[in-house]
Amino acid sequence: MNKILSSKNILLNAMDDRYAVPAFNIHNLETMQVVVETAYEMRSPVIIAGTPGTIRYAGGDYIVSIIETAAKKCDIPMAIHLDHFEDINEIKKYINAGFKSVMIDASGKAFEENIRLTKAVVQYAHLYGATVEAELGMLGGQEDEMTVDAKDAIYTNPDSALEFVKRTGIDSLAIAIGTAHGLYKGEPKLDFERLKRIREIVAIPLVLHGASDVPDELVKKAIEMGISKVNIATDLKIPFSNAIKKYFKENPDESDPRKYLTPAKAAMKEIVIHKIMVCGSAGRV
Ligand code: 13P
Repeated sequence: MNKILSSKNILLNAMDDRYAVPAFNIHNLETMQVVVETAYEMRSPVIIAGTPGTIRYAGGDYIVSIIETAAKKCDIPMAIHLDHFEDINEIKKYINAGFKSVMIDASGKAFEENIRLTKAVVQYAHLYGATVEAELGMLGGQEDEMTVDAKDAIYTNPDSALEFVKRTGIDSLAIAIGTAHGLYKGEPKLDFERLKRIREIVAIPLVLHGASDVPDELVKKAIEMGISKVNIATDLKIPFSNAIKKYFKENPDESDPRKYLTPAKAAMKEIVIHKIMVCGSAGRV
């Protein structure tokens, strides 16, 4: 019987073999089913991620139960992950509820404060066998209720990254190299030199946030250069809701959720398949 894992070995295997594990942001039963079942069909390890807004909306205990059920049916390495959590008490609460992979996002705080908060989460999480991702630098764009103006985005400094990893004991590091959460105004430009430098000196798996709307070649290049986890939210939400909009345009009097959610799941599934291919994670389990 499969069970919910931390993301430790899932990401270390990806780092060793130079592919990335997709972390898909989910919102409800249907989106979790699409992600897990598609990853299972493609024999891909997968991370199921929820922001604070999502976990509040769906209920952390419901999410854990659904993924426990999914894990029994689908024998692939999978982790459920708290994405962009800022409140240590909330993180502790969800670790106690069964989450084994967490992100503490104190990237908006000063360097020393980011270290202090992150270290506190690492100390707690590791006691319970959970792994910790933290972010240094800051992405622009919108995620959940958090908006960062493009001019306030800060790229990750490689030397500070090394110090941050050493002093916090984190398991993976989210870096800012030019991606942003949500859709881009122009074509995103990634700072591959910076990624190369960080990869050379930091020994733990690196995470690319804001991977939606980034051309596949750029994501693939980032993976070749050492990204081991790719976060995808917006690129799933848009086709899911567009399919529902289309359905109601064609069937304005329908009210059966099964009818309009079925095409939404199918549209989302196509993107999940595509992203797994871009990550190179298919057939790894
Ligand atoms: P996108 O919405 O741009 O895919 O960002 C997702 C993300 O980074 C979640 O942490």
